[in-house]
Amino acid sequence: MLVIVKETSRQMSAEAAEIVANRLRKKPNLVIGFATGSTPLGLYKLLVRMHKEDGLDFSKVTTFNLDEYVGLPPSHEASYGRYMRQHLFRHLNIPEQSIHLPDGMADDVDAHCEWYEEEIRKAGGIDLQILGIGANGHIAFNEPGSSLGSRTRIKTLAGTTLRDNARFFKRRQDLPKYAITMGVGTIMDAKEILLLATGRGKAEALRAAVEGPITAQCPASIVQLHRKVFIVLDKDAASKLAGSYPDSWHSSLLLER
Ligand code: GLP
Repeated sequence: MLVIVKETSRQMSAEAAEIVANRLRKKPNLVIGFATGSTPLGLYKLLVRMHKEDGLDFSKVTTFNLDEYVGLPPSHEASYGRYMRQHLFRHLNIPEQSIHLPDGMADDVDAHCEWYEEEIRKAGGIDLQILGIGANGHIAFNEPGSSLGSRTRIKTLAGTTLRDNARFFKRRQDLPKYAITMGVGTIMDAKEILLLATGRGKAEALRAAVEGPITAQCPASIVQLHRKVFIVLDKDAASKLAGSYPDSWHSSLLLER
């Protein structure tokens, strides 16, 4: 587990973009797991810029998103499908058929979740999974108490998550109660994980995830068992970590591997 602490969230995004671009240049048919939320927005902006200005090519990439709200069509302003199109997909050259998002409108949710897992398998597994973290330690929508071996399935959203995410909904009553999410086990199968966090609101979750015991009460803590995880933070998100971590990192050393 490599923890990299940057001074600002802007620098965190730049470091993350370097890691993603490096992996993509090394493997043009990279299978990328994408996250939503505010945290990766800076990274996505930089990837769009690298595509437009430096020709970073996404034409052979396959993507899988972590999660989606149940009951929201991709046209809904708060759906993750809409988020991905708006912030990333419409700016990049990823073929439509290579993009996978859980379908929040699926009639048979269980069958859909099995199909999603199968698609990931057929793609050869996820090479690089981008992750944010909830203030309660969730990853994707695996809330505290989620099985650490879980696969893609429907989950009930925690009260704290509903409160945190209410800002994306114009009317509170539209806030979904359920989501389809990759499981903790699905995420852990990714060959590499890039976990990002910024701000003091995430500091406690980060402390529990990085330095606390591995427990389903903080699903993010499972990444301690992953063989290749990069945790890139800004100073505020790292403010409750007791260990000392590099505030600058020679990406080249890391990215050679
Ligand atoms: C959301 C998403 C997660 C995301 C997290 C943090 O509920 N399901 O994938 O990582 O919460 O979001 P933010 O980056 O906006 O703090």
